[in-house]
Order: sequence, then structure tokens, then C-alpha cells
Amino acid sequence: MKEAGIELMKNTKSVRDIEVKNKRVLIRVDFNVPMDEDFDISDDTRIREALPTINHCIDNHAKSIVLVSHLGRPKGKMPEFSLKHVIKRVERLLGRDVAFAENIESAQALQEGAKREHNVILLENIRFYEGEEKNSDELSSKLATLCDIYVNDAFGTSHRAHSSTCGIAKYAKECVAGLLLKKEIDSFAKAMANPLKPVLLIVGGSKVSSKLALLHNILDVVDKIIIGGAMSNTFLKALGFDMQKSLVEDDLVTEAYNILNHAKEKKVKIYLPVDVVSTDNIKDHRNIKITPAQDIPEGFMAVDMGPATSKLFSEVVRDSQTIIWNGPLGIYEIQAFSRGTFNLAHAVSDTYAFSLIGGGDTADAIDKAGERDNMSFISTGGGASLELLEGKILPAFEVLERK
Ligand code: 3PG
Repeated sequence: MKEAGIELMKNTKSVRDIEVKNKRVLIRVDFNVPMDEDFDISDDTRIREALPTINHCIDNHAKSIVLVSHLGRPKGKMPEFSLKHVIKRVERLLGRDVAFAENIESAQALQEGAKREHNVILLENIRFYEGEEKNSDELSSKLATLCDIYVNDAFGTSHRAHSSTCGIAKYAKECVAGLLLKKEIDSFAKAMANPLKPVLLIVGGSKVSSKLALLHNILDVVDKIIIGGAMSNTFLKALGFDMQKSLVEDDLVTEAYNILNHAKEKKVKIYLPVDVVSTDNIKDHRNIKITPAQDIPEGFMAVDMGPATSKLFSEVVRDSQTIIWNGPLGIYEIQAFSRGTFNLAHAVSDTYAFSLIGGGDTADAIDKAGERDNMSFISTGGGASLELLEGKILPAFEVLERK
């Protein structure tokens, strides 16, 4: 059953189902937010989305609230990955002071002295602990000493079996899902478990390899698939087109062909670009051509879908009731090559379909197209949303459910 992960979580208790009054609560959040070189946060959606759970605990008089997150992929303690860069934004969005704990011991000390107005504590990047990614029992049990209740609200990290997402559940007295986690699951359930049909998957991004499992496994759930972005090059090559200098995963051309056949067997329609925008130099793109996908000029590479494809894909979108979108459909970061992705974002926003967007790049592209508010749901999970769509049971869900 492809919606296995979602099924599993449907009846999991949330923080609303328990009493938090006078309890020490530890919330695993995902504050892994993008920042520029000056540590300015460029997108704070993940922090905003964690606020309902944190506020619920504050409003219901939790004794203390320890926020635990990772930031980036540090190798040991690296100051550039410190959550100190995030605390100001958390304080501003919460509208209250947040104490910073360098480690678990100082979080314990802060908890013991917690006064009502100083009871929110942000722990330093949990990946500074070697045991985190190893899901070590030692770290998991130590973390559990910080709480009476463990709340997992880090949907974006729920595909990782780490101490703060999995191991801790073994030692914490009570474990529940946060409100964001519940909201994410409900939205995925709406798109996958009992969707309004026809269901359309729009898939893009650069690599077929990263979406192979998705493409095979989701054939039971969807009626139509639009494939765009660089990954469509590999499919077009499988159809025998000369893709010239376009990015193609040559070792996956046969696999792409197999996916096309598998889809045909399952009666799922696949739509590929019929025309493309190409250039001979991405950085200095003075030479831009629009041609049928079969006729990319020698030495050129496809960088966006063409206007005929935009029209075709918009018609497919218009005829769908549920739309799941993961991956941009061209090099949208460069204005000249953003039109295809942006046009599709407008087409999705013009429908009354339930639209579920997954992946940081896709959300960013939709934001840049000015359509963020017109999507039904934008997931905070990139890798996690992909694995959920693939029908995997996410480790963090599994431990919550077991508990
Ligand atoms: C994400 O950004 O997808 C999550 O925060 C997980 O991060 P990770 O891929 O470094 O585990």
C-alpha cells in the first residue's frame, strides 16, 4: 500500500490530546533553515510552521519547553552551524525571550531555574553531538532526561533515524506528534490516501536517480505524470532524441525507458516536453533558442521547457483534481530560464485542485512566481516528503506509533 506511512500515523496522538500543564516538554523541531553568508535567514517558513506547537505548550502552561533541532550537516562543533544564528528569529516570531543552552547539561540547569516568563530554551545544534546521527542510546537517554513529554514536530527530518527523532522515544515517558507533523500527514493523506481524481504528479529537478523509487512506486496512486526539468532529458533520450549538451544521466536511459513502459502497463499517462529552451552557455546566455525537443541545435543544452510545452502542461494541470508537485521544471534561478516553471505555477494556482508542494526548491520557485499563497499545502519536508510519496514508512513516525 503506497500510503503506508500515512496510514500508520493517522491515529497517532498529538500534543493536543495530552495534558502539558506543569510538564517539561521537549519539542524536536526542524529549524534547518537556509541562510546567506552573513547568516541572514532567507526563508523562515520552518520556524513559523513550528510556532503553533510551541505556542500550544506555552498557552497550556508547560513547565519548560526545550527546542531541539539540527542545522546543516556539521562535522563536529562548527560555529557556522550554531543555532545561535537562528535564536533571534525564533524570539521575534514567538514574541518572547528564548534562553540558549550550549549543551544538554546547561539546558538542564536552565530548566531547573525556569521561571514562567523564561521557560523556552533552545538547545545548540544537536548534530554537534557525535551520537545524534548514530542514534546512540547514550545520547537518546540523555536527551530524554530533559522531558516528561517528547513531541516530534520535525516533519522535515522524520526520514532520519537519529537520537532526537527516533532514539529518544525509547526513553521518554510520553511521546506525541506536534501540530505541524499532524498537518503534514493530513495533507499527504488528502493527496494520496483518498484523493479526488484525476491525480497528477509533476516531477522535476535535475536527477532521475533521486526520483527513481518515486516514479515506480507512485504509479498505483496517480493517473498522470508530467516530467520536466533536467530529468526529462534522460527520458527524451530514452525516446531516441539527440539531447546534444543537455544534462543526461546516461546510465539511467534504459531505466527511464522501463519507467515509460511500466507507466503504460499501469495506464498512467506520462507527459514530456515537446519543445525546449536551450543555450550554448548557461552563464553567458546570449544565444537562446526555442526548438522542438527533437531539434536542439548542436552544442546547445536544454534549460527550460518551451512555450508549446507550457500550454500542453497547463491543459494537463487544468484537468486535474489533485496535484502533487516535487522539483522545478527548468533552471528557474536564472530569470531567462524560469518561465516554464513560473507558468506552470500560475496554471496550478488557477485550478480548484488540491495542490501539495514538496521540496525546498519547488517551494522557492513557487514563491518567486508569486503563487505561494495560492497552493493548498506547501510541505516543510524535502527528502521526507519524497520518501513519504514513495510509500516508505518514515522512521520517526514508526517510533511514535509504536509508543
Ligand atoms: C532537510 O532540510 O531536508 C531536513 O532538515 C533534513 O536535513 P538532512 O538532509 O541534513 O538530514
